[in-house]
Amino acid sequence: MKFFVDTADVDAIRELNDLGMADGVTTNPSLILKSGRDILEVTKEICSIVEGPVSAEVIALDAPAMIEEGRKLAQIAPNIAVKVPLTWDGLKACKVLSGEGRMVNVTLCFSAAQALLAAKAGASFVSPFLGRLDDINLDGLQLIADIRAIYDNYGFQTEILAASIRSVNHITEVAKIGADVATAPPAVLKKMAEHPLTERGLDTFMADWQKTGQKIL
Ligand code: E4P
Repeated sequence: MKFFVDTADVDAIRELNDLGMADGVTTNPSLILKSGRDILEVTKEICSIVEGPVSAEVIALDAPAMIEEGRKLAQIAPNIAVKVPLTWDGLKACKVLSGEGRMVNVTLCFSAAQALLAAKAGASFVSPFLGRLDDINLDGLQLIADIRAIYDNYGFQTEILAASIRSVNHITEVAKIGADVATAPPAVLKKMAEHPLTERGLDTFMADWQKTGQKIL
């Protein structure tokens, strides 16, 4: 399973990339706002850090303008995945941009029917938003499972990019279901290393080691 880092914070991306944990990056207008930086400039820097796909989102709502924005974003670096919303116009833009050989990530997906359209429009990635479904008491994990089943039934190559991930449990569950990618905030990815029994075990080992009076170095 691939991990994408869901942030425009270059320091966090660099740390995870150095550890081999950043197979790509996803950004969106809210994350660009949070970074406080210019979209073209910060996206270029991210693309220089990470080898894998870096999603940069269009802000136009009509297909012709989305296509123009997508082409401009794609000029930043070869590893840009143009992110378009899952609307009828977004699907039109996806079809054109993917036909030009560009990676396209169709975002804001909340149903299996939408995901089916994204695959047929040639998307490289579809981004179902788990956390936002859970927020309104719908089953985000079930959506990932439904999309997995549909894509496998017909051999669609579009990768399922589980997004809006809020917890370590979300990552474990989407990995079990077979999502191709999980995009998560740096804090959630780092939290995957934590377990209370690891900490308790380490405390015991440290205390016992002190009693031996020995040193390794
Ligand atoms: C990533 O591509 C999405 O934009 C992001 O995961 C959304 O996450 P949020 O629902 O926590 O804003």
